[in-house]
Amino acid sequence: MKKLVAYYSRADENYFGGSKKYISVGNTEKIAKRIASLTGSDLFKIEQKIPYAKDYDTCIIQAKKDLQMNARPELIALPNNMEQYDEIYLGFPNYWGTMPMAVYTFLNKFNFSGKTIYPFCTHEGSGLSSTERDIADITQGANVLKGIAIVGSLVDKENEELERWIKNEI
Ligand SMILES: Cc1cc2nc3c(=O)[nH]c(=O)nc-3n(C[C@H](O)[C@H](O)[C@H](O)COP(=O)(O)O)c2cc1C
Repeated sequence: MKKLVAYYSRADENYFGGSKKYISVGNTEKIAKRIASLTGSDLFKIEQKIPYAKDYDTCIIQAKKDLQMNARPELIALPNNMEQYDEIYLGFPNYWGTMPMAVYTFLNKFNFSGKTIYPFCTHEGSGLSSTERDIADITQGANVLKGIAIVGSLVDKENEELERWIKNEI
């Protein structure tokens, strides 16, 4: 039984507590790495071939356009041997109330039937929104479990809730 943490995350300019700043590691990436080390999972970053802009204002426009077009941005790579993973922690930032469209591209590439998916997201107020259902809709036959939402600007804090979620206690 192998586990995978597959996540999308963008560094560069983002909002933190009301002001914009550049960061070198995205919020979701920090949580993804923590989950991978706590669960002994392999780690895979979902990356689009043409990344969104480094500046925040352009990025949100690009991401909104992709959502409105129901785009499937091309990815740089896919994990090898997805068949070997029974449990997948799927991480993403909340973009406009759902997942970045590159995560849809990723989910469309594989048959998740019989696999368990644990969604986790970082956000600035919207929580998971409808993402648990969005994931279930495109991963027919998968067991999509209760996700966890973590406020992006708090990812560096200790998070007992995350540890309890990993142990299936919440
Ligand atoms: C394009 C874009 C759209 C966003 N839309 C939302 C949103 O609808 N709701 C929300 O709570 N946060 C939203 N955010 C904030 C991100 O979810 C949050 O900053 C997240 O922690 C970023 O994760 P990352 O650093 O791993 O990319 C958005 C951010 C971006 C860049």
